[in-house]
Amino acid sequence: MHDMPDLFESAKAVLVMNDRGSYTQPAHGLYPHQWLWDSCFIAIGLRHIDIERAKMELVSLLRGQWHNGMLPNIIFRDDAQYRTDRNIWRSWINPTAPDHVSTTGITQPPVLAEAIVQIGKGMAWPERRSWYRQMYPALLAYHQWLYNERDPHHEGLVLQIHPWETGLDNTPPWMAEMHQHQMSLWVRVVERTHLDSIVSLFRRDTRTVPMDERFSTIEAISLFDIQRRLRRKAYDINKILDHGLFAIEDLAFNSMFIRANSHLRSIAKSLKEELPEELVDHMELTEKAFEQLWDPTSSQYYSRDFVTHRLLKEPSIATLLPLYAGSVSPERAAQLVKLIENEYAFGPAFPIPSVPVNSFWYNPRLYWQGPSWVNMNWLIIDGLERYGYKDHAAILRETTLEMVDKGGPYEYFDPRDGSGAGAANFSWTAALAIDLLKR
Ligand code: GLC
Repeated sequence: MHDMPDLFESAKAVLVMNDRGSYTQPAHGLYPHQWLWDSCFIAIGLRHIDIERAKMELVSLLRGQWHNGMLPNIIFRDDAQYRTDRNIWRSWINPTAPDHVSTTGITQPPVLAEAIVQIGKGMAWPERRSWYRQMYPALLAYHQWLYNERDPHHEGLVLQIHPWETGLDNTPPWMAEMHQHQMSLWVRVVERTHLDSIVSLFRRDTRTVPMDERFSTIEAISLFDIQRRLRRKAYDINKILDHGLFAIEDLAFNSMFIRANSHLRSIAKSLKEELPEELVDHMELTEKAFEQLWDPTSSQYYSRDFVTHRLLKEPSIATLLPLYAGSVSPERAAQLVKLIENEYAFGPAFPIPSVPVNSFWYNPRLYWQGPSWVNMNWLIIDGLERYGYKDHAAILRETTLEMVDKGGPYEYFDPRDGSGAGAANFSWTAALAIDLLKR
């Protein structure tokens, strides 16, 4: 493996360009605010450049924490030009929203614990202890919130209420459910009368990214409609669940949650803090309940409908994330590794595609419906290493770096030739490339 000094420098330049002082925007223009899991991935790379700045990236997330413990997926910039974004959400209608910043009313995958631990790795114990001390109360409150609000029946798995909460916005299992069960009558009318073609003229995202690399306008309308329904319930989970809105126990989210729980346990242990007993029991229950997502017929895990417990049998990149969770048996992990080896599933030239190549949904340049994403590769590399698949991990690391080097620091990549798609100069691509280079 070469050192790729050019890649390191160009990736660093992306992070400098997107630096907004206390946080890094995901991409200039398209994503001007602070995003939850983006900042976590960004901090993982930033730690190699400036550890204090990496810490700040995570500390700045906490200003958006709700009084109930929730970490929102976006903290909005307060400039006048972003008033519309803030007004779409109106987080202030919920009494537990933070006082001095506007945020969304939903969360994103819990990778904060991972970022805290990665930053901690670069410190001697006394500094690490202070770092952990600084972050521990907020991290604990966040995990407790996830259980209190998102596992109302105490079944072990946490539910998500909007595709944006998974971070995999237009991923097939959620889109299939949305088209079948969650499109309001008025959205269907717009679809049937093709009014969406007029709406598409006003799209902001497609001014910077080609239309065929983003979700369709009707999907965008429906995603905002679902968001409005949540706002009408003032982001109150009891009201949301009472009204039968979207509720899925997402495979990707729960996989990352399991890993985050084990990081939280080790942070608490090293601080000699006793985690609340109820929380520890709940974490164990999650690992057991996770196995209910396994489908023996196809030898894969799937997301599940919260109410009916029906498995949503659409494979996606989430299929491989149990490797990152680390709680599944070596036998089941081996079955997932076979899917990575298979060129007709998850193993094209520039892996790992966000949807397997043999899926009906597969579209190599369309957002979370085909392209390869560097954050997913990073999580899977980490999982492969922990399950002992060192060679697989090394190869994936190498092809990921080659893809970013060749294609540029794009948001996602075409799995056939590694060319870039989506936003240019994307922060987590740059940050995680730096981390993979330094590993
Ligand atoms: C897109 C991605 C989401 C990410 C956000 C900001 O919405 O789907 O995962 O957090 O952009 O980069």
